[in-house]
Amino acid sequence: MTTPFRIAIAGLGTVGGDVVKALQSRGAELSQRAGRPLEVVAVSARDRKKSRATDVSSIAWHADAVALAQSNADVVVELIGGEEGAARAVVEAALNARKHVVTGNKALLARHGARLAMLAEEHGRGLKFEAAVAGGIPVVKALRESLIAHGIVAVRGILNGTCNYILTNMEATGRAFEAVLQDAQNLGYAEADPTLDVGGGDTAHKLALLSSLAFGTKPDLERMSVEGIERITTDDIRFAREFGFRIKLLGIARRIGNGIDQRVQPAMVRASTPLADVDGAFNAVVADADAAGPYFFEGRGAGAAPTASAVVADIVDIARGSIGPAFGIPAKSLKSLETAPAGAVSSAFYLRFEVLDLPGVLAEIAGHLAQSQVSIESMIQRGRAHGEPVSIVMITHETAQSAVERALKVIATSDKVRARPCMIPMEAA
Ligand SMILES: NC(=O)c1ccc[n+]([C@@H]2O[C@H](COP(=O)([O-])OP(=O)(O)OC[C@H]3O[C@@H](n4cnc5c(N)ncnc54)[C@H](OP(=O)(O)O)[C@@H]3O)[C@@H](O)[C@H]2O)c1
Repeated sequence: MTTPFRIAIAGLGTVGGDVVKALQSRGAELSQRAGRPLEVVAVSARDRKKSRATDVSSIAWHADAVALAQSNADVVVELIGGEEGAARAVVEAALNARKHVVTGNKALLARHGARLAMLAEEHGRGLKFEAAVAGGIPVVKALRESLIAHGIVAVRGILNGTCNYILTNMEATGRAFEAVLQDAQNLGYAEADPTLDVGGGDTAHKLALLSSLAFGTKPDLERMSVEGIERITTDDIRFAREFGFRIKLLGIARRIGNGIDQRVQPAMVRASTPLADVDGAFNAVVADADAAGPYFFEGRGAGAAPTASAVVADIVDIARGSIGPAFGIPAKSLKSLETAPAGAVSSAFYLRFEVLDLPGVLAEIAGHLAQSQVSIESMIQRGRAHGEPVSIVMITHETAQSAVERALKVIATSDKVRARPCMIPMEAA
């Protein structure tokens, strides 16, 4: 009789609860795939009395999640969340106790991933995190194991369902960011404190992991520029449509020269390309595997079932004996990330200026742009009621981002310009 593979689960919330449910309801088939019986031997959460969708009364309960590391489990599944505190303590204790670890915790891994990967390898154990990026989409495994022959040139993705839901709804209804965010909160699609989502931080965590998997570098949040969607207006969305684009919050990591450029930012994506068609709370990732071509992954990036699906896949992988380094190459070989040189990042840009309707204002803006060698491909000017600011929108030719930033810094100081100019890069494809 094959020895069972023993599983301990820390965190029985949205994801943890569904992992237990999947292991209970589909146990026989999953055990066949694992090649040995799968058995949940211990669980932990904060409140034992809380009513839960899944019956865990027959499973050993630990009030202290760190104690799971001392249980007889083979794998500890961390589904508590947060980059420090209990989540970090459980993962470190489990690896130190020579347990495999499966987690969905992007915040923890984006901060401490390189060190935890090292700890896992020192103890000869697996550390898997498919659920940490894009929920049910198996993109971690694809980058770690499948798309390796030719190397990755770039990874781009819509990695935050809340932001994509908000942008899709702003476009569909013509309502402003704040109103749509409020709806999303009422419907439970956005957190009460939405900062991590709409400010781009959550996308940054996921991008740090994708970048590491793609380029063999340590996850690095410091060398990443991060901008959220708070400043996107319905005007921007309407103008984007006029130019044949849609606005998406993208996480982008790409090789430029000897460096890696990592950025989270709203971007203009050409309409009718696969990324532009990703609507609502869906996620998508495009991995450009050089000669092997671009690969497009789309699916549900969050929610109980999709995320639990990724967690269960990792558990079964480890039970089968597939361990391997967390980021695809030995942790000690992960390089520190070198940023791409400033000035090497270039694209066409959408620029919007809110200006006073006065003679000479257009010439002043065009003059500053020309001084920084930024040339304009097309322009739209929309008047408003007398005395109100007008919008001037320009699309530039391909140009260095640093040159556009330089020009905008000067333009923002003009007394004819009413708000910080808006700059959104146009994605080439
Ligand atoms: N939800 C998603 O769609 C999704 C998608 C991708 C990744 N993830 C990641 O998956 C992880 C879990 O997310 P979630 O949405 O399932 O979170 P959640 O619903 O808030 O559940 C968290 C669970 O952790 C337990 N917990 C909190 N502090 C604890 C402690 N000190 N010791 C033991 N247990 C503790 C809670 O206990 P009580 O139940 O007793 O309060 C709860 O069961 C996070 O890292 C998240 O980023 C989630």
